[in-house]
Amino acid sequence: MRFTVAIDGPAAAGKGTIARLVAAEFGFAHLDTGLLYRAVGRKALEIGRGVIDPVQAAKIAEALADTDINRDDLRTARVAQAASKVAVLPDVRAALLQFQRDFAQRNGGAILDGRDIGTVICPQAEVKLFVTASDQVRANRRLVELRVGAPELALETVARDLKQRDIRDASRDAAPMVAADDALVLDTTEMTIEAAVAAAITAVNKRL
Ligand code: C5P
Repeated sequence: MRFTVAIDGPAAAGKGTIARLVAAEFGFAHLDTGLLYRAVGRKALEIGRGVIDPVQAAKIAEALADTDINRDDLRTARVAQAASKVAVLPDVRAALLQFQRDFAQRNGGAILDGRDIGTVICPQAEVKLFVTASDQVRANRRLVELRVGAPELALETVARDLKQRDIRDASRDAAPMVAADDALVLDTTEMTIEAAVAAAITAVNKRL
């Protein structure tokens, strides 16, 4: 059985949590595509000693291995910024495209979350969601996550990081972050995670 759920939206809106819970409900495989860009960004920073070289970043994307993706140091704000910088590069996006499409077509169903899943990676996805929330709510949610490893982190720092990435992700020429015309928009600003997951499950059940 092939069935694809595409979940897009800005950082810390709840995409990942919704994707994980919906995947568990239906037994679908889940790919957090942000991790691919984070892995490329982290390695590009390391090789360039803090400076990202676009040609090098594309080479890294072409040769990306499981060991680059399954690291526990990809969730930092520094790596997130590097991810959004390499994500503007068309060669980087092209190198990561087929892996994501193959994942989406795997037997048993798949959920991918990112920025361009419903628009570019899987325009034929059976279900498309665009998950969003106010800037303030997203910054607060991300602060709680990041404070586990960085107790001194300030809300303004997190808010600034999200804002910079939102602007870069939405304004780039290559696969900008935008809701697909046929996406169901879930604004989680005042919605509990349970309600958002329930809405997503209903949307999947309608198409199964
Ligand atoms: O989702 P996450 O915040 O981990 O993604 C990190 C960065 O990777 C995003 O800010 C965005 O620039 C990039 N990204 C992307 N397309 C995707 C997933 C992530 O451009 N499908």
